[in-house]
Amino acid sequence: MSYIKDTEINAIREQADIVDILADYIHLEQKGKNFWAKCPFHGSGNERTPSFAVSRDRQTYYCFSCKKYGNVFSFIMEYENVGYIEAIKMVADKVGYKLNTIEFGPQITANKDLYDIMSFAEKYYLNNIFTESGIKARKYLEDRGINEKIIREFSLGLAPIGKNTLNKLLVKKGYNDKQLDEVGLLNKIGIDTYDTFTDRIMIPINDLKGQVVGFTGRIFNGEENTAKYMNSKETVIFKKSNILFNYYNAKNAIRDEKKVIVVEGNMDAIKLSASGIKNVVALMGVVLSKFQIEVLAKLKVPIILMLDNDSAGLNATLKNGELLEKENLNVCVVRLNDVKDPDEYIRFKGVDALKDNIKHAQKFIDFKLKYYKEGKNLDNVEDLRQYVKEVLNSLNNTDDLTKSIIISKISKDYAIDIHVLQEEVNKGKEIIKEKKIIKEEKSVPKFTKYHIAASKILYHMMHDKKYITIYKNKLGYFKEKIERIVASEIVFYSNEHNNINIADFISYLIPQEELNKYVNQIISENINSVVSESEFNNCINVILKLLKKDEIKLLKEKIKNEMDINKKVELIAKLTEIKKEV
Ligand code: UTP
Ligand code: MN
Repeated sequence: MSYIKDTEINAIREQADIVDILADYIHLEQKGKNFWAKCPFHGSGNERTPSFAVSRDRQTYYCFSCKKYGNVFSFIMEYENVGYIEAIKMVADKVGYKLNTIEFGPQITANKDLYDIMSFAEKYYLNNIFTESGIKARKYLEDRGINEKIIREFSLGLAPIGKNTLNKLLVKKGYNDKQLDEVGLLNKIGIDTYDTFTDRIMIPINDLKGQVVGFTGRIFNGEENTAKYMNSKETVIFKKSNILFNYYNAKNAIRDEKKVIVVEGNMDAIKLSASGIKNVVALMGVVLSKFQIEVLAKLKVPIILMLDNDSAGLNATLKNGELLEKENLNVCVVRLNDVKDPDEYIRFKGVDALKDNIKHAQKFIDFKLKYYKEGKNLDNVEDLRQYVKEVLNSLNNTDDLTKSIIISKISKDYAIDIHVLQEEVNKGKEIIKEKKIIKEEKSVPKFTKYHIAASKILYHMMHDKKYITIYKNKLGYFKEKIERIVASEIVFYSNEHNNINIADFISYLIPQEELNKYVNQIISENINSVVSESEFNNCINVILKLLKKDEIKLLKEKIKNEMDINKKVELIAKLTEIKKEV
């Protein structure tokens, strides 16, 4: 499954002491054997005692609050928002390990060319803007407050005038038309081919890992009858919904500033960044995709929506705010007056004025209360009725305290009986509750005697080879499929490596999401339990007994249903035998 050899992955993990690596990201304090921090993976801002424990012995971490568990690779994956292979490479980099066995699958080799093409195009455009023919483009940017330093920081470039300038170069470098079409840099009309972008200022779009995957090109000669912006088409490597513009650049500033500002236009993000507000990303559409929301959620910082000052921006603020609020995220809103967007705000009112707006961002709930007032005359009974209904309906994802404050405020402001308001809110709540209960019932883990013992056995097996041997000799079976799969993975792993080590076993499981999740559950169930041979044997005996009981039950059933008297006698004899064993 992975493209780096297991042996190398383990070697990297061994060289990368988890405490040293994590100390670059979070503040760790040693208490006893473990190191402790506030958990970076759940909203632990007001946590009084740190719940995130890092064990140097085991080379793993565990959060006692959100139950996240893992090794150095899973930490980097989660924290840096990267995939498994990427995380391994990053850790290898940190410890100065030179990877030599990256085995690319066919898919990756194919995409590697596509990434290379985009990277080449980026450099080509950038180079162009600094030539003679780029003077006008540079002047345009300069007039917009974007100087050479920012041009280089964002790799802004120029697609020159001409039919085939970029594509000719790329073909010379050995790429073919099919690949150029695949990344959206080439158009075919009849037998003729054309560069997709000509005579435009080019803004590279990076994916979350910082690789260029697409472009957006802006006109700058005051052309008419043509789109202001032209974007790369969606390709194998460019999926708009999987990208937040400027995320890669902004990541560290977002953590430092402890907030992320979301704007609409790429140019807004560039301008804010150029003005020293670096913790900014731009939507790649109007509505945040599920993936983008996940990315924002993982940042664990308040999200400030600062969209355009038009009705589209207003509606997008409401829509996106609700989507984010549904995920229990802290959302604030900035609505700018007088001008069209944040870029113009800086141009006409200055960056300090914008910073002031950000500082005084309103809570999403306050924005909503104002939003629903828009266009209504609250002296008018029907308008007031409508207003109150809209506000109350929108409280589903609001916490109880805020809800209660709002209800009592409306009650006072408009002299409406508070009980009536309460009633109205509860109506909505009941429906949601019912849905929730159905959902929760499905995922309740079974804490039966059997389950507890099985979980402990697997937990032991992940720690020491000797438990795997005892398991194979004495039990060798579990009732549930997922348990059997995990057990066989453990056995397979220890055969393969002639050993087992929990931190390495985690690396091995990371690509298998379902199993990884299940193992995480096992660990969180047993985090406080002792690992010992007597404990292990106890659990084996518990399960053997339970399996016997099952067998007896089954036999009894069979005996009851057996019509052939001889067979019945046989079964009864067998039953007596088994009962003796118990
Ligand atoms: P705007 O017209 O608000 O552009 O369109 P903008 O962001 O302020 O850009 P500047 O300041 O004029 O350079 C909002 C967004 O809609 C998309 C772009 O993503 C833009 O940022 N758009 C707009 C297009 O894709 N194509 C267009 O022709 C126009
Ligand atoms: Mn603009």
